[in-house]
Amino acid sequence: MSNRSATETAAAQGAWQAAHRRSLTDPDGFWGEAAGAIDWDRRWDRVLDDGDAPFYRWFTGAELNTCHNALDRHLAQGRGAQPAIIHDSPVTGSLRTITYAELQARVARFAGALRGLGVGQGDRVILYMPMVPEAAIAMLACARIGAVHSVVFGGFSARELATRIDDARPKIVVAGSCGIEPNRIVPYKPLLDDALAQASHQPAHCVILQREQQPADLLPGRDLDWTALEAAAEPADCVPVAATDPLYILYTSGTTGQPKGVVRDHGGHAVAMTWSMRQVYGVEPGEVFWSASDVGWVVGHSYIVYGPLLHGCTTVLYEGKPVGTPDAGAFWRVIEEHKVSVLFTAPTAFRAIRREDPEARHLARYDTSSLRALFLAGERCDPSTLEWAGDILGVPVVDHWWQTETGWAIAANCLGLEQLPIKPGSPTKPVPGYDVQVLGDDGYPVPPNTIGRIMIKLPLPPGCLPTLWANDERYLASYLGAEPGYYLSGDAGYFDEDGYLYVMSRIDDIINVAGHRLSTGGMEAVLAGHPDVAECAVIGVTDQLKGELPLGLVVLKAGVDRSEADIAAELVALVRDAIGPVAAFKTVLVVPRLPKTRSGKILRGTMKHIADGTDYRLPATIDDPAILEEIQAALAAAGYGDS
Ligand code: COA
Ligand code: AMP
Repeated sequence: MSNRSATETAAAQGAWQAAHRRSLTDPDGFWGEAAGAIDWDRRWDRVLDDGDAPFYRWFTGAELNTCHNALDRHLAQGRGAQPAIIHDSPVTGSLRTITYAELQARVARFAGALRGLGVGQGDRVILYMPMVPEAAIAMLACARIGAVHSVVFGGFSARELATRIDDARPKIVVAGSCGIEPNRIVPYKPLLDDALAQASHQPAHCVILQREQQPADLLPGRDLDWTALEAAAEPADCVPVAATDPLYILYTSGTTGQPKGVVRDHGGHAVAMTWSMRQVYGVEPGEVFWSASDVGWVVGHSYIVYGPLLHGCTTVLYEGKPVGTPDAGAFWRVIEEHKVSVLFTAPTAFRAIRREDPEARHLARYDTSSLRALFLAGERCDPSTLEWAGDILGVPVVDHWWQTETGWAIAANCLGLEQLPIKPGSPTKPVPGYDVQVLGDDGYPVPPNTIGRIMIKLPLPPGCLPTLWANDERYLASYLGAEPGYYLSGDAGYFDEDGYLYVMSRIDDIINVAGHRLSTGGMEAVLAGHPDVAECAVIGVTDQLKGELPLGLVVLKAGVDRSEADIAAELVALVRDAIGPVAAFKTVLVVPRLPKTRSGKILRGTMKHIADGTDYRLPATIDDPAILEEIQAALAAAGYGDS
């Protein structure tokens, strides 16, 4: 990458364009070649199968096993003694290294344990796990026997977990007894018990990983101890599955309270993950890749677990925060200690470090010379954070844009192909495989520098969602219904005159809080359930640290004369209880009325502008402009806007 010879640099020039063009004009040739990096039990009949368009499929007819490709294949190639997972846990003060051989043995055994509990091909297993190696072990064990895992992030509430249990209908739930946050232990098991009390579907068993920080009480008959189960199990072999079979379901916020079950297949996913490790991230097998995220998010699925392991890298599983565990030098320590080549995290993490250590004094204590690049994603990256990170680290900082749905980058500076000039504020150009277009309301592409809906012309490349779990109709309606032949990303933005993409905002009610994707509609549904609330709106207000923070505005029912502060506190508690602490919902303002259009649509966008103190145009369809003045006054009194 950085130490290329002049000849190599010349050869690389134009590599992105050549690869991108070929991926669109000859997808069979392009992805068929990429598939050579994977072991197949049966070769495909077709690379791209458009027989059931718009439901495109990749590698139909092929069979493979993802776990074999992530583990056993590397043993056969002599990687047995190489660390596969480094579990670095400042919150527990522990460090564990697990080699590929050890990981394969543990995964095979846990796969045997699951099979012993009756889990077979196609059965679902829900994982509610903290950042411990056993989370990855359980994921890979499912893949080994063809079961479908669905990981639920630990910061979600019991109710969110129950919703996912009812949708996925798992045979088994695997959970940690607790998660560990810097300021507290989060007991997961009571949340699981509560979720099961709320859910109509009941799994046959819960397998509980007891952590010494807070072991859980087990319900005899239903709950089983992970350690005992693993110790008693016979190892299970890899089962070949169809390339188009589901590997996992990952629920993500939709525009309603009901999360969307994004499905990932085996074959396309394995090919895309492996291709991206080298071509997007510029990483070689044997190197150390660190994705500072959580296994509960798509970044964790793709680049803590599957991508690095499929590519034969060492992955760092970090159970800590960028600051406070113990200080703003935590990331630099991990880079030095484990010789990290590439780091991937959300811009929020760097904003947090910068806020505590603007001069990057902690960095001077560590040798971070192993680091070749920093990748940022999960939310819009403000140019100032990107420039600061580049200045202090002295490596390329790559903003790249993707979503749970795609599973890997849609736009990026593909360092393994060719490093294009960096333009802060832009995630660079579409990644090979993605035909990204910005369309206007008339369905036609808009000129450069004009904002429109960012769409991807079908087919989506391998690795992207083939559908939503048990819900083809919602897949069609949510993603393919806006313009025939296009996937609707839900983001708005533009291309500049050099073909660089700028992703500016969502066109729906999704907000990004510290890189976590949340639905304001889901929060509004919770607020509306309070007996004193007549009407409500939740908006994402710009926040210096977390990018956005939700702010609730509520109108109370006539005759309610209780303390507004008490009601606000109840509403905050309700959202925390219903969605989880990750929503970071802490502020509610009681207002007399909400501004609306004449047709009754609440003007959330206008209120966001007022709260952010940014310019806005008075909507032509506004019903009563005087209400905006009331809102402005209420927001200013609470410290929002340009007060
Ligand atoms: N289990 C239980 N609770 C969790 C949790 C988990 N796995 N993860 C977060 N939470 C809780 C936090 O403890 C916090 O609770 P609190 O309101 O009681 O303090 C709440 O959810 C919000 O968490 P978070 O948004 O992470 O805020 P924070 O103040 O704890 O940390 C950052 C702020 C910036 C340090 C943190 O968000 C971060 O490291 N972000 C990095 C980016 C990242 O991981 N992005 C994911 C997608 S790439
Ligand atoms: P998630 O599904 O949680 O990964 O969130 C995906 C959403 O996060 C995208 O649709 C964008 O709105 C936002 N996002 C992710 N990465 C970027 C980025 N690099 N720039 C701008 N927005 C981003």
